[in-house]
Amino acid sequence: MKKLPYFDYLLASLNENNDLEKSFGRHVHWGYWETPKLATLSVDDFAQAAENLSQLVFNAADVKDGQSVLDVGCGFGGTIASLNETHRGLRLVGLNIDERQLERARQQVEAIENNTVEFQQGDACALPFADNSFDVVLAVECIFHFPSREKFFNEAFRVLKPGGYLALSDFVLSSLLPSRSLGKVNNGFFGDCDIGYTKEKYYALAKESNFSLCVDKDITKNTLPTYNYLRSMFIKKDQNKSRPSSPMTAVLSTLAIEVVSRLNLLKYYVFSFQKPR
Ligand SMILES: C[S@@+](CC[C@H](N)C(=O)[O-])C[C@H]1O[C@@H](n2cnc3c(N)ncnc32)[C@H](O)[C@@H]1O
Repeated sequence: MKKLPYFDYLLASLNENNDLEKSFGRHVHWGYWETPKLATLSVDDFAQAAENLSQLVFNAADVKDGQSVLDVGCGFGGTIASLNETHRGLRLVGLNIDERQLERARQQVEAIENNTVEFQQGDACALPFADNSFDVVLAVECIFHFPSREKFFNEAFRVLKPGGYLALSDFVLSSLLPSRSLGKVNNGFFGDCDIGYTKEKYYALAKESNFSLCVDKDITKNTLPTYNYLRSMFIKKDQNKSRPSSPMTAVLSTLAIEVVSRLNLLKYYVFSFQKPR
């Protein structure tokens, strides 16, 4: 497994930086603000926005009490934690390629409200689960790291029960750009990412893998305050040291994504798909 530099940084720094812990110790994804101009960009405001994004994705999958939910690329278990706090009787399974993240997830999430919680190591493109075993599969802001969106869709279809939902959030390339203008990139701090997928490619992928499309929501403008927040974090100094707390690769890598997003060339979408009954 190729390690992702931003997770190496988070795993090394979370315990010594309280703001970082509150911002990225549970969810490791962008924020969602229903009314972006009301974003205050405090640490609590960002943490709530990150929570909102997880909820938006699992609501797109219509999660109901008593169901089985698989969260693929679950990071530190933030989406599983959120489902655990908002639902009852769920069977919650978090899967991640990186065992170090799962260790933290296991320490952070304890099942309540008749839910069960389990974290398992594995690859999104070779899911270690039986056919027809989940009502819902989620992939929050992680599919661009997977070896292949096509293989992941086939695997999600296989493990879903008939009528089950796959919901995800992803950076989506503007259809105005030639499809080869962005694609597999190594974005320094964020590691290997494939950001060459357009909305149209998602529609085609859904069709090829026999899913029907239920939700495709462009939330780019609701996520943009994330960049202002990250910039304010980058400028902050470590409490005991006079140097900025973030590595320069983080600043440059985030700036690259911000520029293409503000130019509307890279969008942020929530999608959901249903397996036929
Ligand atoms: C941006 S983080 C999102 C984490 C989490 N979904 C969240 O929203 O907090 C991307 C995640 O994808 C995971 N990942 C990358 N490649 C993977 C793969 N092939 N299979 C499973 N997980 C993978 C990474 O380890 C990381 O946890």
